[in-house]
Amino acid sequence: MQNIGGELELVGDKSLSHRCIMFSAIAEGKSKMTNLLNSGDTKATIGIFKELGVEIIEKDLNTFEVEGVGLNGLNKPTTELNALSSGTTARLLIGLLSKQNFETQLNGTDQLKRRPMKRIIEPLNAMGAKIISENDKLPVKIFPSDYEFEAITTTKPSAQVKSALLLAALYHKNFPTTISEVIATRDHSGVKSFRLGNSITIQPVNILNPINYNVPGDPSSAAFLLAIGVLVSDKLILKNILLNERRIGFIKTLKKMNANISIKNLQIIQNEPVGDIVVSKSELVGVNIDSSEVADMVDEFPIFTLLASQATGKTKVTGADELRVKESDRISAMAEFVTQLGGAIKVYEDGFEIIGAQKLNEGTVNTYGDHRIAMTAVVANICINKGIIPNNIDCISDSYPSFFDNLRLIGANYEL
Ligand code: S3P
Repeated sequence: MQNIGGELELVGDKSLSHRCIMFSAIAEGKSKMTNLLNSGDTKATIGIFKELGVEIIEKDLNTFEVEGVGLNGLNKPTTELNALSSGTTARLLIGLLSKQNFETQLNGTDQLKRRPMKRIIEPLNAMGAKIISENDKLPVKIFPSDYEFEAITTTKPSAQVKSALLLAALYHKNFPTTISEVIATRDHSGVKSFRLGNSITIQPVNILNPINYNVPGDPSSAAFLLAIGVLVSDKLILKNILLNERRIGFIKTLKKMNANISIKNLQIIQNEPVGDIVVSKSELVGVNIDSSEVADMVDEFPIFTLLASQATGKTKVTGADELRVKESDRISAMAEFVTQLGGAIKVYEDGFEIIGAQKLNEGTVNTYGDHRIAMTAVVANICINKGIIPNNIDCISDSYPSFFDNLRLIGANYEL
């Protein structure tokens, strides 16, 4: 095994990067963001706001300036808007576009067209929005509508739904709006809000201020390196990672699995906790995860499944049916991954059970064009068996285009 370890900074968090672009576009004045994620998914958001008439300047790969046009300054686009494969782009924008005084059509790749949009369309239309779709999926047509709502509840444990509702609520002039969710999800709202339990209330805003922000590292991308850390590294330090309470479920789970993992240099930077994660080779044990823990590690299940296969004892996940509607059906894609390599996994509608530690043989795994399945396969190649090969690695650039550069920097070389 190569000597894997050292210190590394990661590019900015995907959720924060999308929101930085969106909120800076409708703010008044010039925003500047550094360490902004420039990936397939965030390019979709940038491309759409350019179509909506916002000037977005790429100063260098991860530094962007945005000339905000104000809440009512977006222009009617001349073409259909394309969210590519980005669920966050599509879902959040449906909320924002439903409040514009022009008509738009939103579409995406075949992968995104398979994903449910009913979770946004239904609550907004129930309040009076005019969003039309043939099968509750993309493409959607969004027509102007003067609708307003004071309170709205979402039953899906989804930050994308909550943020879409929040973007629509930003347009309310005369009264506060309360958005309630059944399970609390990531809360990078970008506007001042008051939280009471699982409800957030925002006050009417006439003007959004521009943003000046260095985006902290993405904990969901860090998860792949943390996995390498617990599997094979003497010491790996990931610096300046976003440690928002709603994003550290995977770190907490690793801790429950007996991982050597700790946080150093914790600071609060512009309302978000940021710190360094230190991790090293660990004797992992199995763990139980239930519905109350799923949202806080919702993007980390592919790499978590691989770790569970290498942990001693039983791991059981329940209440994770949301995984079925991610970039791929991540329960069945990871079940296929494990069995394809000679491992065993029991699948449920809302989760799975796996007993480790398992020997994984060489083989090609189908990533289903899902960036996080592809990165999981690369980690398996580096740490478990050089013969494990993902059938597609191009999709990795949807969320983590510097993945292979970062792997080289920690001495983890992946060669096909
Ligand atoms: C995201 C929310 C999550 C997550 C996605 C990013 C966001 O989706 O899977 O990668 O930025 O709001 P859901 O909220 O639908 O679970």
